[in-house]
Amino acid sequence: MSEPQPPVSVPPVNVPHPRAVRSFVRRAGRVTSGQARAYAAWGEHYLLPFAQAPLDVEQAFGRAAPLVLEIGFGMGEATAHIAALLPHLNFLGCEVHDPGVGALLKRIGEQELGNVRICAHDAVEVLQHMLPPASLHGVHIFFPDPWHKKRHHKRRLIQPPLVHELALRLQPGGYIHCATDWQPYAEQMLQVLSAEPLLANTATAAEGYVARPHYRPLTKFEQRGLRLGHGVWDLVFTRKGGSGDVAQ
Ligand SMILES: C[S@@+](CC[C@H](N)C(=O)[O-])C[C@H]1O[C@@H](n2cnc3c(N)ncnc32)[C@H](O)[C@@H]1O
Repeated sequence: MSEPQPPVSVPPVNVPHPRAVRSFVRRAGRVTSGQARAYAAWGEHYLLPFAQAPLDVEQAFGRAAPLVLEIGFGMGEATAHIAALLPHLNFLGCEVHDPGVGALLKRIGEQELGNVRICAHDAVEVLQHMLPPASLHGVHIFFPDPWHKKRHHKRRLIQPPLVHELALRLQPGGYIHCATDWQPYAEQMLQVLSAEPLLANTATAAEGYVARPHYRPLTKFEQRGLRLGHGVWDLVFTRKGGSGDVAQ
């Protein structure tokens, strides 16, 4: 019998395609048999199809709870850790890399993480079409692709238009948490987030960065970087007009 395969992604209708600049390129990557089994066993329950309509969060999660959006969860290591640590929050993860989606589905199924849903689609379009203003408690963007080459900087996620779109979707007091191990990108993040009038920096240190919040785990990739003497920068900004609570 052949292994179950992940669904073939179908381009959404009525979305300008191709968008001029995307923050990712679709990488070829093999879906392991374990990931394929996870797609077959849990995909139907935990994968949310992309739609050009506001997400009904209560229906999608089976309960009402504050919603945290994660953009680009990779293999979902941090997502699963945080979802288990903070069961009172709903987590919507967006990722376009099929093996990563399979890997997170596997973690969700094995750890019975009822508070995670996945949209295997460009997060920028998910944001624009499915998440109305003031619908988010938080946003996580951990180690987004740094796009090192100058001619690729336009692909970086953290740029003024997207940050403004994110800020509009945060509830007052909601937060956006970014982390990177690439200093020039950290500096760009600090500059762009600080320039967004709807956001306020939670950092008390003059440099503008915060210590790694307790909920964000040290991933294997990050541990290796730290062993090699590389730095990591965390930034947490909150939407003005609220109490400024960050994911407890
Ligand atoms: C460098 S990896 C980091 C993964 C993970 N956050 C971590 O810390 O290991 C960046 C990920 O973001 C995903 N990504 C980039 N742009 C995206 C977008 N617009 N929508 C969804 N995923 C995106 C990529 O596919 C990639 O897996």
